Amino acid sequence: MLEKEERVFNATPVNGEEDLSIRPKTLDEFVGQDHLKEKLKIYIQAARQRGESLDHSLFYGPPGLGKTTLAGIIAHEMGGQLRVTTGPALERPGDLAAILSNLEDNDVLFIDEIHRLSASVEEILYPGMEDYSLHIIVGKGPLANNICISLPNFTLVAATTRLGLLTSPLRARFGIVEQLALYEIETLTEIVHRGSRVLGIDINDDAAVEIAKRSRGTPRVALRLLRRVRDVAEVRNAGTIDAPLSITALDMLGLDSLGLDQGDRKILKVIVDLFGGGPVGLSTIAAAMNEEQQTIEDIYEPYLIQQGLLERTPRGRKATINAYQYLGRPCPAENSFQFCFQDEDSL
Ligand SMILES: Nc1ncnc2c1ncn2[C@@H]1O[C@H](COP(=O)(O)OP(=O)(O)O)[C@@H](O)[C@H]1O
Ligand SMILES: [Mg+2]
Repeated sequence: MLEKEERVFNATPVNGEEDLSIRPKTLDEFVGQDHLKEKLKIYIQAARQRGESLDHSLFYGPPGLGKTTLAGIIAHEMGGQLRVTTGPALERPGDLAAILSNLEDNDVLFIDEIHRLSASVEEILYPGMEDYSLHIIVGKGPLANNICISLPNFTLVAATTRLGLLTSPLRARFGIVEQLALYEIETLTEIVHRGSRVLGIDINDDAAVEIAKRSRGTPRVALRLLRRVRDVAEVRNAGTIDAPLSITALDMLGLDSLGLDQGDRKILKVIVDLFGGGPVGLSTIAAAMNEEQQTIEDIYEPYLIQQGLLERTPRGRKATINAYQYLGRPCPAENSFQFCFQDEDSL
């Protein structure tokens, strides 16, 4: 039993580069997302004043925006332990039952990728969330026995990149449902500075802004780029990291001034060059790029849309005028405009 539990808890994707010290532990250390932070502060304080656990919370948004971090912060602020698992790691109802029955009051159970929870595991979760009770059936056939165990007052914090894939009964059981939006450059600059302080990196403001600009609105990317820039600075024996040095390092990574990488450029090229600018279906783009649809939807699209390079229409994805300009292709709208004039002239 214990072994199984450990396996499940250890199913957390531990990224070697994401050392724990860099994760904010309190809401005050969490940079940006001010609206969300304001609300969470109130909910947490209210729950603590009532001596209750925080309502179950669901965070959704693209990867790397701080969902896992928020789960840790909630556990810390509520004075409980953080238990981490993921939807796909909970294969059988027993996996979840084992975790639930080992929780204590105010603990936070974090389930990442909750949209990948199987239906049978979800069934176990419902009474757990609603009445803090665990219903399990022991035995089979006429001898089967329904056992009900009461659970401590824990908080389920769940994260997903695909809110639309959650079943509605599951979604309805969360008291707090919040979206994490891509970060602005100023906020990312602050995150780079915070990361530099934690990692002991000497960097000036201009260099931090250069990193922020290429971070696709994502703290995880900002911190990864910071580490790569540090590598270059160390090898070149530079003192303070300044803008020219960070630009050199970022260019080496194949990132342009918008922070687009090869994958982003490929999507735009596929839409513009192969499909006349769209609209074109996601599955067609995925096939043309030899890439998973989900990767395109979760990783590439949000940032391309935020940058005004891509549009989602009911008939598929469409490149914007900005995308044509970005790729240095003649703009279709301008062409037809000229065409109109020529037509008029010839009349
Ligand atoms: N608002 C923030 N302020 C400071 N660091 C952040 C913030 N959001 C995310 N990070 C950092 O970015 C990295 C990725 O965050 P994480 O919580 O794992 O994202 P997600 O779970 O949404 O994929 C972590 O190292 C975390 O410390
Ligand atoms: Mg995460």
